[in-house]
Amino acid sequence: MSGNTFGTLFRITTWGESHGPATGAVIDGCPAGLLLDEADIQKELDRRRPGQSDITTPRKEEDRAEILSGVFEGKTTGAPVSILVRNKDVDSSKYEAIRNTPRPGHADLTYQLKYGFRDWRGGARASARETVGRVAAGAVAKKILALHGIEIIAHVTELGGIHAKPVTLEEIRENTEKNPVRCADLEAAVEMQAMIHAIRSEGDSVGGLVEIIGLGIPAGVGEPVFDKLSAGLARALMSIGAVKGVEIGAGFKCALMKGSQMNDPVVLKDGKITTSTNNAGGILGGISNGEPIVCRIAVKPTPSISKEQHTVDLGSMKNAKIRIAGRHDPSIPPRIVPVAEAMVALVLVDLMMRGGFIRTSFI
Ligand SMILES: Cc1cc2nc3c(=O)[nH]c(=O)nc-3n(C[C@H](O)[C@H](O)[C@H](O)COP(=O)(O)O)c2cc1C
Repeated sequence: MSGNTFGTLFRITTWGESHGPATGAVIDGCPAGLLLDEADIQKELDRRRPGQSDITTPRKEEDRAEILSGVFEGKTTGAPVSILVRNKDVDSSKYEAIRNTPRPGHADLTYQLKYGFRDWRGGARASARETVGRVAAGAVAKKILALHGIEIIAHVTELGGIHAKPVTLEEIRENTEKNPVRCADLEAAVEMQAMIHAIRSEGDSVGGLVEIIGLGIPAGVGEPVFDKLSAGLARALMSIGAVKGVEIGAGFKCALMKGSQMNDPVVLKDGKITTSTNNAGGILGGISNGEPIVCRIAVKPTPSISKEQHTVDLGSMKNAKIRIAGRHDPSIPPRIVPVAEAMVALVLVDLMMRGGFIRTSFI
């Protein structure tokens, strides 16, 4: 199985299966001299961890980060940073019962068809557990970006057909982490929570939209032509399980706009070149223009639902029915927020290193 590594200069490899002993990430190319300890990583892992509210899976993932290499006397040395998180609260029994009946909407069938053999416990590499490594490595990337005055924030803008009203940056910063659905419109957040409870009691699930915003990114990030910033973000965000669409700036709405509406007027403000609107989402020609980077992702409803569904029994090769009993998120968008932030941070650090914005040593 290839494809577990991401990035060019700031290069991460995630490893581990959901029901194996541990999971984690190795960062190759991390600049030297970065102050880094486990608490930096823990902060982000705690945001990813399920079991913190009644709207996520009740799995109690403790997720303690251990740094195994690449840090000496509290600073990165430039050697690979290896981060390990042990898997606790693993219960494979529910998966034993469905090992021959692939879950509709999950990756069980495609893994089976591709490899002819698979670790059927908890979805293995196709499990949300794989995002532990992304979030751990993303925490390091976020720390590097913070040193350059860059902030990445994400929030849920739609869930199960409930739309959040437009919010300000202050509302996103202030409100998002205060409610379990991570929606900055607090009234919509209450409705979204009620929706999640209702859909779970029906044995079903719902999806939604998440917006990710990058602030403080200088002009000039992104490498023409195949390594455009927009292309990197789309690839990174689409690599997260359950993400089915990525938009940048005005996104799909641009198809309905006129050039005169879509084009962001270029203006001088306080002697600085800027744009008075941001339909481009901060990227033109694949290169950042100094405006906020704005992306949105469409997240599908959780595939593992307890409602009865049709599948095939791969043992008897007969049509079968399946009800999935394990512990699952009734809705993924609230949990994907820190994962999406991590992926955006990883893309930016990698392209900023390639563009010479970030040095290989902070010493
Ligand atoms: C943060 C996060 C949490 C998820 N939680 C679950 C879950 O509890 N149950 C489930 O069946 N899928 C869950 N998924 C989705 C599956 O990982 C995903 O649907 C699967 O890997 C198949 O990939 P695809 O949907 O992109 O085709 C989650 C994904 C993410 C990113």
